[in-house]
Amino acid sequence: MMNVGSKIVIDMDVYDAIIARRSIRQFQQKPITEELLKKFVDAARIAPSAANLQPLEYVIVNGKEVCAEIFKTIGWAGYIKPTWAPSEEERSVAYIVILVNDITNKWHQRDVGLASENIVLMAESEDIGTCILCNVDRDKIRDILGVPESSHIDSVIALGYKAEHPVMVDLKDSVKYWRDENEVLHVPKRKLENIIHINKF
Ligand SMILES: Cc1cc2nc3c(=O)[nH]c(=O)nc-3n(C[C@H](O)[C@H](O)[C@H](O)COP(=O)(O)O)c2cc1C
Repeated sequence: MMNVGSKIVIDMDVYDAIIARRSIRQFQQKPITEELLKKFVDAARIAPSAANLQPLEYVIVNGKEVCAEIFKTIGWAGYIKPTWAPSEEERSVAYIVILVNDITNKWHQRDVGLASENIVLMAESEDIGTCILCNVDRDKIRDILGVPESSHIDSVIALGYKAEHPVMVDLKDSVKYWRDENEVLHVPKRKLENIIHINKF
């Protein structure tokens, strides 16, 4: 928010990023600088955390060979049939793996959600696409990255400059996203009037 003279001007950047963000699963092969990837993790670092316990750690993956190994551990777009994955020319060029150092912390998944959202919105502000991934082979990721048993592998965020532009549509009868005849992904979202309650349920 800026105060311009007596007029308050709302800066819409965050809202714009929220609206523009979609899960991206097809990427350009242009690298993301390490500086930017660190900036995204820094944004995750300072996200809200229950009791300020901060149980999360992060592994940035941007080496070509290690990215190829991580790619093999991921299940992409479960609703798309037959089973689909990005082609070699469309794969994400980096990953951020989210680790939890204490899963007895009963709020850790909420912390992961908040940290993940900071990462995806920061990326969106740089026009970088992301996909949060939980359908991953955690044992294989542990081996590939040498993650100690003391850390739980929660999820992976795939990143890259966008090579697809999914569209958001009103949810009618199914939550399942689909691709149209031009291969554009349509993502149904519940309508505001169907989820909002004011003063009373
Ligand atoms: C916790 C979580 C886990 C997800 N896991 C996967 C996954 O394993 N594979 C995948 O392709 N997408 C995954 N997604 C992306 C969702 O499919 C996507 O957010 C949803 O379809 C809505 O689309 P949108 O992100 O474009 O709004 C995951 C998203 C969340 C929040």
